[in-house]
Amino acid sequence: MVTILVTGCAGFIGSHVCALLLDKGFHIIGVDNFDPFYNRSAKDLNLAKFKNHPAFSFYEMDITTGLDAIEATNISAVIHLAAKAGVRPSIEDPAGYLNVNIVGTQKVHEFMQAKAINKLVFASSSSVYGNNTKMPFSEDDNVDNPISPYAFTKKAGELMNYTFHHLYHIDIINLRFFTVYGPGQRPDLAIHKFVERISKNQPLVLFGNGDTARDYTYVDDTVSGIYSALEYCLNNTGVYTTVNLGNNKPVKLNELVDIIYAAMDKEKNVVYEAMQAGDVDITFADITKAGELLNYKPATDLAEGIRKFIAWYNTRNGQGNIE
Ligand SMILES: NC(=O)c1ccc[n+]([C@@H]2O[C@H](COP(=O)([O-])OP(=O)(O)OC[C@H]3O[C@@H](n4cnc5c(N)ncnc54)[C@H](O)[C@@H]3O)[C@@H](O)[C@H]2O)c1
Repeated sequence: MVTILVTGCAGFIGSHVCALLLDKGFHIIGVDNFDPFYNRSAKDLNLAKFKNHPAFSFYEMDITTGLDAIEATNISAVIHLAAKAGVRPSIEDPAGYLNVNIVGTQKVHEFMQAKAINKLVFASSSSVYGNNTKMPFSEDDNVDNPISPYAFTKKAGELMNYTFHHLYHIDIINLRFFTVYGPGQRPDLAIHKFVERISKNQPLVLFGNGDTARDYTYVDDTVSGIYSALEYCLNNTGVYTTVNLGNNKPVKLNELVDIIYAAMDKEKNVVYEAMQAGDVDITFADITKAGELLNYKPATDLAEGIRKFIAWYNTRNGQGNIE
């Protein structure tokens, strides 16, 4: 059985990754410290889906200090998703973001060297593109102008990965995720926040005039790309590359809001406020490379994905044990 270490396994994307890999027959060692960025109960529910699976072992630990406690010596690859995520909070706490996202990533590399692991899939972000004006965003574009501490920690992670690839021949794929949504989505992200406010009959607060746009990507599509990247890393040597995992269809904020109100059958009620510092105007992924290298083909249309998210949200709230 092939063993994979997944950091951030109790988080939104990490829990979907673990569920898929367990289905595919991998053994998973999962690490998470339940960072208080959002409620632990949401992460407990994520983990509950597979916590008792016989091929899953869980370590509640901080990647910046704890990885040494993992005794396994047979780990074939690491999928490194643990991070302080979120753009706006990174402006309030740059040091915290640097510690987890940069020092934490270096600790993952230290662990990999100690255990002779030479395959890594790394969670980077569309935010490295900053306010790139060339559309769509391609992996060859210059990403020297990150506009939030979060973005520069992700760019720093990519650079660090190159160095360790060069020095120690680690095979690495940096995946730049574009606004991932779906069941279990982080509560700080737009779709989750909006559905929550609409179901409580509260107005939506939209930053900017509604023309900002995001390349919303359904979590199953992102996770299929992560899985393909893992397989690619496991089956090839000499790999260091960076790949966009987006949807290639940016949607304006106003349009997103209309889709959500229609799906919830509620009357639109929005308030516009000034753009927030650190927010980019648009994200738009060129996914040609992901298609060629990883056979990545996002398949979930936004309206369908939003219906699935709302169904999950309603079921979860029916369980009455969140917030
Ligand atoms: N969701 C998105 O749209 C998106 C977009 C681009 C990039 N990403 C990246 O993808 C990854 C996963 O994002 P997500 O949306 O699932 O976020 P998430 O917050 O739900 O998951 C991250 C997990 O990492 C854990 N974690 C944080 N600090 C840790 C530490 N020091 N030690 C151990 N565990 C720690 C958290 O408790 C959390 O469970 C992150 O690296 C994020 O930056 C996400």
